[in-house]
Amino acid sequence: MSFLEIRQVSHWFGGLQALKDVSFQTEKEILGLIGPNGAGKTTLFNIISGFIVPSQGEVIFLQKPIQRQRPYNIVRFGIARTFQIVKPFTTLTVEENILTGLGMSYYPKFKGLVSRYRTPANLKSVSELIELTGLQAYRTSPASRLPIGIQRRLEIARALATKPKLLLLDEPAAGLVAQEALELAHLIQRLYEHGIQIILIEHNMRFAMNLCQRIIVLAQGEIIAQGSPQAIQANDKVVNAYLGQE
Ligand SMILES: Nc1ncnc2c1ncn2[C@@H]1O[C@H](COP(=O)(O)OP(=O)(O)OP(=O)(O)O)[C@@H](O)[C@H]1O
Ligand SMILES: [Mg+2]
Repeated sequence: MSFLEIRQVSHWFGGLQALKDVSFQTEKEILGLIGPNGAGKTTLFNIISGFIVPSQGEVIFLQKPIQRQRPYNIVRFGIARTFQIVKPFTTLTVEENILTGLGMSYYPKFKGLVSRYRTPANLKSVSELIELTGLQAYRTSPASRLPIGIQRRLEIARALATKPKLLLLDEPAAGLVAQEALELAHLIQRLYEHGIQIILIEHNMRFAMNLCQRIIVLAQGEIIAQGSPQAIQANDKVVNAYLGQE
């Protein structure tokens, strides 16, 4: 039984075909999704997480088709995501942002969510997530004031608060310095060891190659290669797709 299956997914934005007949299945793994700008990577995440209904094809999660479900239902099924451009609730603190994650799948309307969810049991869960993601020093800081590396970890903490089985990370290492990227890689590895499946989109090749067991390469909406990081690095089609971008 596959965990997540993408079955012949195509998507058009008007006349532009962003995805062309994309099919793959995931196993227990950290899966990397790479490809040049505009390849359709984020569009695929938007489809899996319910932000876009695909023009064609199916998304099967734990044997159920989910491609017509709303984002808050997808969260209930156990899929959480982060965004390429970080989207914390800027006026809320780190603690409050994570509380919204705890409430999200039960209470999709945002208004009143934080005060309703600020219970001792939830604050304990927040503490655990803050510790796991290394945000101890920032608990009461407003999210808007945080450096990008910390905002990225906050997004992961908020996504984890929904207790996902599958976590989709859209360019988690973008904008991070080498040391921050290394710490993030350790965090992602720990989450995987805790039993969370990960799919990550990455432009930082070293980051993706070190962390992922398998890599799928999209170019102009199509899968052009998949395999181990070593096989992908040696694949002519992949090399050409990236060179063609220069
Ligand atoms: N909402 C939208 N409306 C119209 N076109 C869109 C929309 N979202 C994406 N596209 C187009 O679809 C194609 C795929 O975009 P997508 O954002 O999925 O690429 P990507 O692989 O994530 O690229 P990047 O590496 O730059 O983030 C691009 O040509 C993009 O301009
Ligand atoms: Mg993208």
